[in-house]
Amino acid sequence: MPNAVVHHLTHPLIQHKLTLMRDKERSTSGFRRLLHETALLMAYELTRDMPLHAVEIETPLEKTTGFLIDGKKTVFAVILRAGAGLLDGMLEVVPGARVGHIGLYRDPKTLAAVEYYFKMPEHLGERDVIVLDPMLATGHSAAAAVTRLKAERPRSIRFACLLAAPEGLAHFHGLHPDVPVTTCAIDRGLDDHGYILPGLGDAGDRIFGTQ
Ligand code: URA
Repeated sequence: MPNAVVHHLTHPLIQHKLTLMRDKERSTSGFRRLLHETALLMAYELTRDMPLHAVEIETPLEKTTGFLIDGKKTVFAVILRAGAGLLDGMLEVVPGARVGHIGLYRDPKTLAAVEYYFKMPEHLGERDVIVLDPMLATGHSAAAAVTRLKAERPRSIRFACLLAAPEGLAHFHGLHPDVPVTTCAIDRGLDDHGYILPGLGDAGDRIFGTQ
């Protein structure tokens, strides 16, 4: 995909925390804390090009012009359920952001992604959406979520994940070459069950302690 953008976050702090998260001995609470910290760092990168507006303020010494972001223009769109693990860290950096949720499941017969929940803030045409899901594995649910979001015509869409598989990136950008992907790592590939290798296992199970 010649024009598709992938931002690979190679910051040492992110790589360090990701390595600790990959370790199968990491406890649920440890995994969750590291994911929270990583989401903070990801948010710092994701907000790098956020628009600023000028405001007149007064310091204790004099009047000056400052610059503020309008956090309300950002929407974090969580793909259920694992995307929720990235949300709190993102909101800590952009507390005014709005939050949307997208629930999809895979139909066992057709293997198509079926929507069971979709709730977004109003006026998406004025907002920039960052879709959150820790794992871009096959890319099917990410692509389906973005297809659904595009129907609401947000001002912009980006996709952010912790790990991406090359197959998932290819599938996703095959359908949505206009949507940049931000990821902390591009792993080797997928196993026969669609898990990322070396990966970190089932992100939802590791966040919520369900295994
Ligand atoms: N979803 C996960 O949680 N982990 C994977 O490796 C792939 C998809």
